[in-house]
This record gives sequence, C-alpha cells and structure tokens, in this order.
Amino acid sequence: MIENVLPAIYLLASVGFILAVKWMNNPATARRGVIIGEIGMLLAVIGTLLRPEVVEYRWILIGLGIGSAIGAPLAYLMPMTAVPQLTALSHAFGALASALIGTAEYYKGEIPLGFPMGALVLESLLGFLTTTASIIAFAKLQELMPTRPMTYKGQNVVSLSMLTAAIVIGGWMVAAPAPTWAFPAFIALAMGFGIMLVIPIGGADMPTVIALLNSYAGVAAAAMGFVLNNRLLIIAGALNGSAGLILSIIMCKAMNRSFTNVLFGAFGQLAAAATGTVAQRPVRSATPDEAASILDSARSVIVIPGYGMAVAQAQHKIRELYDALTKRGIDVKFAIHPVAGRMPGHMNVLLAEADIPYDKLLEMDEINGDFPNTDVALVIGANDVVNPLARTDKTSPIYGTPILDADRARTVMVIKRSMSPGFAGIDNELYYMNNTLMLFGDAKNFVAGIVKELAGSH
Ligand code: TAP
Repeated sequence: MIENVLPAIYLLASVGFILAVKWMNNPATARRGVIIGEIGMLLAVIGTLLRPEVVEYRWILIGLGIGSAIGAPLAYLMPMTAVPQLTALSHAFGALASALIGTAEYYKGEIPLGFPMGALVLESLLGFLTTTASIIAFAKLQELMPTRPMTYKGQNVVSLSMLTAAIVIGGWMVAAPAPTWAFPAFIALAMGFGIMLVIPIGGADMPTVIALLNSYAGVAAAAMGFVLNNRLLIIAGALNGSAGLILSIIMCKAMNRSFTNVLFGAFGQLAAAATGTVAQRPVRSATPDEAASILDSARSVIVIPGYGMAVAQAQHKIRELYDALTKRGIDVKFAIHPVAGRMPGHMNVLLAEADIPYDKLLEMDEINGDFPNTDVALVIGANDVVNPLARTDKTSPIYGTPILDADRARTVMVIKRSMSPGFAGIDNELYYMNNTLMLFGDAKNFVAGIVKELAGSH
C-alpha cells in the first residue's frame, strides 16, 4: 500500500522544494516560500518514516529527541546577527549526516563497484570535507579562532596534494575492492582538506565560502540519493547544490572576487593588519534636530542600511522615519548592498519585518545612478559598503569591491556610534568629506530622535 502512496508523497515534497526556491527569490513571496519548503520537508520526512525498510522507530525517536534538543535552542537563542555562524553549523551537521550514511553504506559492503560506489565516494568526500570546512567557518565567524587568513608557504601544494590523494584512493575504491586502510585514510584526507580549504580565507569572504559549502552539502546529498536510490534526495540535493553555487557566484560578483581568488587568494589579510587603525582627522557632526531639519528640506533621500542597523534593531524606527518623510512628499528609497550586514539578504529581511514597501528597496546596480541627483544619503550603521577607498586605494583589502555611491549625494549623513571601523577593519574616507555629517549615536536612538524632531516641527 505505502509503496503506491510514497511516490506521490515524494513528488509533492519535490514540488514544495521547487516552489520554495522560486518564491524565496522575491521578498514579496519569500515567507510563502519558506512555508512551502517546510511543508515539503515534513512530507519528505513522513514519507521516509513510512517506508517498509523502517522496521522500528526507537532509535529514530532517540535521534529526533537529541537533534531537537540541540537544534531548537540554537535556533531560538542565536541572535539574528549570528545567523551566518548558525548557517555554517547547520551545513556541518547536514554534511556530517551525508558522510556518515556514506560510511555506513560502505561498511555494509553491499554497494557495487563502478557508478554506485562512485556516488558513495563523492558523497563521502564532499560530506566529510564540508563538515570540517563548515566547522572552521563557524569558528572564524564566531571569533573562536583568528578571522584573518592563515597562510603558510606551499599551502596550495599541501591542500591540492591532500585532495589528489583522496581522489586517488576514492578512484581505487570505485575500481576494485580496496584494502581496509583505504576508507579511513580517505576520510582523514577529506577532513584535512576541508580544514585546509577554509583556514586561508579571511572573514570578509566567509559568506561566499558558506554559500559554496552549502552547494557542496547539496551535491553530497544528491550523490547520497544515487547511493540509496532515492529520487527525492537527488532532486533536493541538486536544488540545494545549484542554489548554493548561484548564490556564491552572485556574491563573488558583488565583491568583485573570482572563485579561485576566494578559495586560494587569502583575502582580508590587509584588513586584519589594519584593524582598529583610524586616522585622527576632524569630522563634522550634527545633532538629531539638525539632521531632522536637513531631511525636512530635502526632496529626495536614499537610506543606506548596514550591519549597525541590525545591531541596533533600528528597522521599526526607520519605518517611522520613512512615514514621516514620505508624508512630507519627500521621495525616500533604500539602497541595498548585496553584502551589507552579515548574511545575504540581511537588510531585506529586517526592512521587510518593518513593512517597508518592497518596491522602495533597490539593489546596488539599480540605485547607484541616482545618488548624484539625491539631496541626502542617510547611512544607518553601514561602513564598508560605502567606503570610497574601494574605488581608489589599491592597497586596501576592499579594493575593487563595488560600493554604494553615497559620497556622490549632495549631503551625506552617517549614523554610527563612534569612528570605529567596520568589518574590514579600515578607516572610511566618506566620513572626512566636506559634504558629510556624522550623526554619533546608537542607530535606533538617533533615528528616534530625528523622528521626534520631525513630529515636533510639523
Ligand atoms: P560594517 O562595515 O561592518 O559596519 C557596520 C558599522 O555599524 C560599524 O562601523 C559600526 O560603527 C556601526 N554600528 C554598530 N553597531 C551600531 C549601533 N548600535 N548603532 C549605530 N551604528 C552601529 O557593515 P556594512 O557596511 O553593512 O558592511 C558589511 C561588511 O560585512 C562588509 O565588509 C562585508 O564584506 C562583511 N560581511 C558581510 C556578510 C554578508 S553576506 N552580508 C557576511 C560577513 C561579512 P560603530 O561601532 O562606530 O557604531
């Protein structure tokens, strides 16, 4: 009976995954996308639990209990700003699951040589290397280890030799029965390569690496689908693999990096060296009432949110500011840099939470041409994504990264608490320009101050 229903359940789950990817592409439908994806996953889990091979539920329930006891508090307790770390950790768990299934299948000894064993080798290789690479990415993002790139002489040779050795042993396992030491050696090499892969990568490139690891975990799951003869896993893994790859390509483009540069270039080295060094140069600053009167007399305003908006949770106050300004007939738009904040889509998520209309959120390419005709660029907790040094200073770690052209607006106002640098650890030329006013304070409080002044002056 279940054999007849199972394909239908899996088909519905696949449709759910495909719709999820499609709907998550747009902020207006993203919530729906998440829900349909969750329904798809629930169907997949239920369908799998009903399979005839599952003879008893005891160990499954124990696993479910342990997994939920770890996963639920992690999801609830991790602050929004720590989502990249959480993502890295969930990739590590997902990839470990694929790798362990590969290991179990290998030792059961029932997988034929040739293509099925090839799929198992691919699954295990990607699974184990993604596990260790994701753990290192987590440790770097959580600052449990130095975020700067750790490099040494001959590093690429060592890494590539480990990968080659793993592939050679894997090839052997595919072609002929391998000796008992082969699989443990293969695992050790894959895990070692995962560590070597991420250690030389600087913190600023970590989001791209996480997207890439997501893609590896997806390919590992698809390969597992071939090993277990499970079509749903193949579909879900392929979707995950391609979505992760596309996201990493988009992010590489946004940061003007090539894939090989991200993987082997040891980026962010200078950033680490420059951390904390800011020039002691005079800046002009203003109070909330001065900022309010400048905004009041503007006709066009572009708001540039950054990581500081997330830290301050200023999005709801920004919504109030948006309402106050649009009520006065001022044109207000939001400029979204692809790597503003600490995760892809970070700013979109927060602004959507505050019900800022989606059509007011414009990507970098769409909005950069508007800055020269804009009265005020209001930078709220953003730093690296508006640093003009990215255009001119060849020694800067962010050189070549496309930025939002806030400096080209008639007046620039920057809300931040101090002159401290942002993620890349470098000073920002924007703050010292003649048309820039620094608005020192916590983003939420400062915006609230402006809103209050605007309400008073109405
Ligand atoms: P950042 O360059 O990190 O700058 C954020 C600024 O916010 C800081 O200069 C800080 O200055 C200010 N800030 C912090 N808390 C604040 C608060 N409560 N109120 C007001 N201001 C506050 O941010 P960004 O411009 O968004 O750039 C993102 C950076 O992170 C890029 O370098 C990017 O490569 C990197 N990165 C991005 C991602 C993704 S995928 N988005 C992931 C990892 C890393 P004060 O301390 O002076 O207030």
